[in-house]
Amino acid sequence: MSPQVMRDLAAKVTEALIERIDGLDDSNAWDGEFRDVLERALGGSPPEDERPAEDVLEQVVRNVLPNAARLDHPRFFGFVPSSPTWPGVLADFLASGFNINSCTWLVSSGTSQLELVVVDWMRNWIGYPEGSGGLLTSGGSAASVEALVTAREAAGHPERPTVYMSDQSHSALKRAALIAGVRRDHIRIVASDRDFRIDLDSLREQVSADRNEGLHPLAICANGGSASTGSIDPLAPLADYCASEETWLHVDAAYGGFAMVTSEGSELLTGIERADSIGMDAHKWFFQPYEAGALLVKNAEHLENAFAIGHDVLQDTVWGANHPNFADRGLQLSRAARALKIWMSVQTFGMAKFRAAVQNGLDFARRAGEYVSSSPVLELVTPVSLGIVCFRVNPEQGDYDETMLEDVNRKVLTRVFWDELAFFSSTTLKGVFSLRLCIINHTTAWEDVQRTLARVEQLGEDALNEM
Ligand SMILES: Cc1ncc(COP(=O)(O)O)c(C=O)c1O
Repeated sequence: MSPQVMRDLAAKVTEALIERIDGLDDSNAWDGEFRDVLERALGGSPPEDERPAEDVLEQVVRNVLPNAARLDHPRFFGFVPSSPTWPGVLADFLASGFNINSCTWLVSSGTSQLELVVVDWMRNWIGYPEGSGGLLTSGGSAASVEALVTAREAAGHPERPTVYMSDQSHSALKRAALIAGVRRDHIRIVASDRDFRIDLDSLREQVSADRNEGLHPLAICANGGSASTGSIDPLAPLADYCASEETWLHVDAAYGGFAMVTSEGSELLTGIERADSIGMDAHKWFFQPYEAGALLVKNAEHLENAFAIGHDVLQDTVWGANHPNFADRGLQLSRAARALKIWMSVQTFGMAKFRAAVQNGLDFARRAGEYVSSSPVLELVTPVSLGIVCFRVNPEQGDYDETMLEDVNRKVLTRVFWDELAFFSSTTLKGVFSLRLCIINHTTAWEDVQRTLARVEQLGEDALNEM
């Protein structure tokens, strides 16, 4: 392509993106389409002949990309939203254009240096000592795999390993345990208590029973913000217990970890600094485009012991001491330059703004909890934690059984879905169907939260009247 054609196309892309982002508030929080419709529009063999690039672009911007959850919409509260900063988006564009492969120091020293810097920022936010280190990953799932493989190698790759996690832990951890070689029936799901935190007595009993069976308790995975309720496992007691059992402690802070940039968040996550490894996702509560996960390991040597495997064809990439090859710390050789987006957006806005944006999520969720508690129609299902509000329609007046309440709340959720004001999702908490808001978008205003809750109240009353 000629430079002018490239410029024109890039300008069109920029325009489409800015139009989208600028118009988010007035658009639906979600759009999707059925397979047969998309198949007709987008299927078929690869064309033999060329097409005008503007047509291809137009088709993608009109027919492909809008069929998606707008996870950065100010009223998207489903699952775990993500609201990337513009410098972060541009960083991904730049990294692609510069064609960076952040695999080794030789191949990309600039972004390797940034990865060292960004990982060190995270080390400080966690309160990890010097000598800790890590790498950026595609996300929390990859970080979990790399954590458990590291734990396995640090333990000398024992026979018959077991891994422990609570019934609130993310499915990513179970998959990671399987990939790390733990048999499906040796993944121990420990009951959580009333506050959705792992029950320490049940954990102790299970570990001791497993030791008696000759199994090898390899790692305990704690939640640093569970995905359903934002609950935080008792991290300091778990660290004591893991030390006494000589078992690896991994904290899955994929969702909640970046709360640590605020003093409230670091208070809530006290004890996390004692974990052997921690996963946290900058594409969740640190305002980056996908994919931007991280794994930090307290003793960074364990990472390279687990993953560094020499290869003749890479023999020239050994630069020397203090010049790490990030490919030696995880499962990928070819790697995106993920540090660039984090570094560029923090440089652009400064930590004060990031801290304030994370704090806003904590504050809005707390306010949403107060709104729910004072509503005659709604009730909190769990205490608000780390930006997550689990609640349901359950009026003070009236006597509704659990089946009826579930029907009403399912109806409300479906109506919210088609109503297009906002998007949120649900979860099941010890058998109770619960609506769930995750409020961590830096563009969300209190009015967005309040309008959403008011709509739920109204839809709830309608659904109750229809019963
Ligand atoms: C607590 C928790 N752990 C792990 C994951 C998986 O992370 P990823 O989707 O980045 O692989 C998620 C995703 O939402 C999560 O919330």
